[in-house]
Amino acid sequence: MFDQLMARVRLLMRKLNGDTGRMLPSPLKVAAQASRPPVPRAPTAPARAATPDMSPERRIERTRALAVRLFGANQPVDNPRDLFGRELELKTLREAVLESGMHAVIHGPRGSGKTSLVRVFGDMADARGATIIYLSCAGTGDFGQVILPYLHELGPAPFGLRGDEYTKAIDLLSAAPTPRAVAALLARADRDDVVFILDEFDRLDDTETKAQLALLLKLLSDMRSRVRLLFVGISGDVSELIDVHASVRRHLTAVGLKPIADAEVKNFIRLTSNAIGLTMAPSALEALRWAACGSPYHMRLFSLQACLVAIDRGQQEVDDAAMTEGLRRAQAVWRTTNPRDDELFTRLIGERRYPIALLESFARACANHLEFTVADLTDALIRDGHDPAQVPHLIESFAPALGRMQEGSQRLAFDDVLAPQLLLAMCVTTRTGTAPASAADEGTMQ
Ligand SMILES: Nc1ncnc2c1ncn2[C@@H]1O[C@H](COP(=O)(O)OP(=O)(O)O)[C@@H](O)[C@H]1O
Ligand SMILES: [Mg+2]
Repeated sequence: MFDQLMARVRLLMRKLNGDTGRMLPSPLKVAAQASRPPVPRAPTAPARAATPDMSPERRIERTRALAVRLFGANQPVDNPRDLFGRELELKTLREAVLESGMHAVIHGPRGSGKTSLVRVFGDMADARGATIIYLSCAGTGDFGQVILPYLHELGPAPFGLRGDEYTKAIDLLSAAPTPRAVAALLARADRDDVVFILDEFDRLDDTETKAQLALLLKLLSDMRSRVRLLFVGISGDVSELIDVHASVRRHLTAVGLKPIADAEVKNFIRLTSNAIGLTMAPSALEALRWAACGSPYHMRLFSLQACLVAIDRGQQEVDDAAMTEGLRRAQAVWRTTNPRDDELFTRLIGERRYPIALLESFARACANHLEFTVADLTDALIRDGHDPAQVPHLIESFAPALGRMQEGSQRLAFDDVLAPQLLLAMCVTTRTGTAPASAADEGTMQ
């Protein structure tokens, strides 16, 4: 108990000391509210909002800071109340990992909310008495480098060992950390459920290390260990992230992150803008929702910029003009990270070779699939009433931004997985700020 407590204190100290390298700040924080069913909610209570007796400059500064804080797209969600539209995924993880003792894989595009989901799940599991160790695989190499830090963080408590006994066991293991030796030790952790979360697993490119971790997963299953592995990474499917033995598949649950439902995206934007004292014009809300395509990252980026424009202009409402200018600013933010694709998209839109509605149909199809095939694009174009013969031309035009997933594979993907929604945003601004004529929920923005 004491060791477990100390492990938590160590984690907390790291957080306070600003060590954000492999460790996210508060995976072990007890969040009693996590076990309650989610209810419609306003975002986490903000810092003090602007008050009437403030000077206009101070008021703008305050409101801007609040907007940045509530809409910010650079920090994962750490409060269950702020996690929108992931009830099903949380339930799946809870049932599989905590109730059925399965291992799990969470996969999806960058910005789809993998880390946020796993953090909220971690809090939920912690509140239920499980021990959760969260680390990122980024910057690690061999099997020992990946797995030993989990053992250090875990400490002796779940094994019923004394501190010195545990240190000795780890020292022995460190000399030759093989999957079998690690599994043999972990099989002895029989006091608590333990979950090792391996975030950014896709950033581990040593195939030998991945194979050893897959073997560890198999051995833990065979030994009926109470330690579960939860792999998290950017990927379209499980096998691309981790190649597990067929016999292990039934012990493994896959959670593929899909776009957040339109209603939840709108809920998020409406509630969050209200929390900073702004209202959203219905057409602006539709356009932001439409351009984000269910991506949590983009819904935050686009809404933040639109709200900042309204604040700077002294408006209480985010109207179509503020929304359009906000999307332009979001594009400018993205340009700093990906000037190549920004230039390509700007040129292709400017040339007017393709109608804007066709580009939008293409962008939405790409945004909905991390990887896509010619058939996916053909279906999307037909569904939206465009000529499918344009597909090969579109692929050729966008080729500099696309990569083949594997040699010989027919699957395509944007090198920058954040790009399709930016293409959409650029299409919206090109429509000279006109609001979407048709913005049905799954709608094309004709
Ligand atoms: N379900 C959600 N509801 C609201 N915001 C979310 C949700 N999921 C993620 N976000 C936000 O989107 C951004 C990207 O999320 P993150 O969890 O870092 O994605 P990933 O790990 O998949 O790259 C973060 O700013 C995060 O706060
Ligand atoms: Mg992440």
